[in-house]
Amino acid sequence: MQILVIGSGGREHALAWKSAQDNSVSKVYVCPGNAGTALEDKLENISLDINNFEIIENFCKQENIGLVIIGPEQPLVMGMTDYLQSKGIQTFGPSQAAAQLEGSKTFSKDFFIKYGIPTADYAAFDSYDESLRYIESIAYPTVVKADGLAAGKGVLICENKNQAKAALDSIFKDQAFGEAGSSVVIEEFLEGEEASFIAVVSKDKIIPLATSQDHKAVGEGDVGLNTGGMGAYSPAPIVDKRIHLKIIDEVMHPTMQGLISEGSPYLGFLYAGLMIKDGELKVLEFNCRFGDPETQPILLRLQSSLVDLCLAAIHNDLDSYEIKWTDKHSCGVVIASKGYPESYESNKEVMLPNLEDAETKLFHAGTKLINENVLTSGGRVFCATALGDNLKQAQSKAYNLVDKVSFDGAFCRRDIGFKGIK
Ligand code: AMP
Ligand code: GLY
Repeated sequence: MQILVIGSGGREHALAWKSAQDNSVSKVYVCPGNAGTALEDKLENISLDINNFEIIENFCKQENIGLVIIGPEQPLVMGMTDYLQSKGIQTFGPSQAAAQLEGSKTFSKDFFIKYGIPTADYAAFDSYDESLRYIESIAYPTVVKADGLAAGKGVLICENKNQAKAALDSIFKDQAFGEAGSSVVIEEFLEGEEASFIAVVSKDKIIPLATSQDHKAVGEGDVGLNTGGMGAYSPAPIVDKRIHLKIIDEVMHPTMQGLISEGSPYLGFLYAGLMIKDGELKVLEFNCRFGDPETQPILLRLQSSLVDLCLAAIHNDLDSYEIKWTDKHSCGVVIASKGYPESYESNKEVMLPNLEDAETKLFHAGTKLINENVLTSGGRVFCATALGDNLKQAQSKAYNLVDKVSFDGAFCRRDIGFKGIK
């Protein structure tokens, strides 16, 4: 079978790398891919306009693609799954309607209330003046969120009224997030420890994936600006058995049933970003896709077939699939370009180690291959990922790999996994 993975990040490198491990898979195309996917056995990058679904359809038909896996949120929210499925192409990812869970914060907050899913108190506004009046009356800190997709940057934590006003100014007046900021959600600030809960969902069936925890802030000890994620590890002890069951009962099942009642049953990876405190949980957000960087350490632990998992979900036959994990722990450390998550330089030449084995993998993200040279092309450049008998060992192997990769301006957090080790 030939497979097409849509996307170019570390998540997509991991999805394509894992798919290629199946004997039944002869080739995995990655569109547009990165230097890592260009260099990998059985993988081939293909440059197509992913906003033009007809071009993707034609490619799938020409190459006899048996499965399309869509990595990022943008094409899902634009309806790529609906389009390809309507043309008879097996596609793994939610419909445009179901992807609204990530595509619109007002949609998802209203959905949480309607279906009794625990979340932070909030109010939604599409008027600047009304939102200004609202911030006069609330407690601080507070959280101001642009409604639409903003590449992880549309969430502003405000310590006081002045900061909240500045956030509203930047969203409504300066249109810092364009159309995504045509309305806002202003919500209660939640304290606690965050965890990512990611599952494969097919209508009313669910297979939870191994637990994980991301590190959103750019600085060690979780300080500084929020990023797409600076590293992740799996399993995450914060999600113990009790919390696991609570997430399934209070969050995942009501969401799956809610979507069925709305006429848009879910298919794909469903990711709940949670805040956990004193054994209670609240949903911060839903993502309609696998997490990046959570995918990298999670897939390094997956022992059963990713392709069979996606196909079982597409056929609403998850009961027939037995998911298998290694008991080992895994840790992934993001290597980023100086300046990220704000502006950074690209086109830096990378020196790569020859250090990979079955338990150590350097996933590429913002890289490109030019004349056989690997150059940087993004804020998050790599995710150095390793397995170990315990988290500490996985962490030390991941940093060992990090220290062998070099390019001008490379930096990482040195504390990925600290909460799991503590
Ligand atoms: P979101 O995209 O909504 O998950 O927000 C991105 C990040 O902002 C989360 O991972 C949290 O670190 C932080 N965040 C979002 N909402 C809240 C909240 N209500 N209270 C505290 N932190 C939040
Ligand atoms: N790592 C967080 C995300 O994928 O949104």
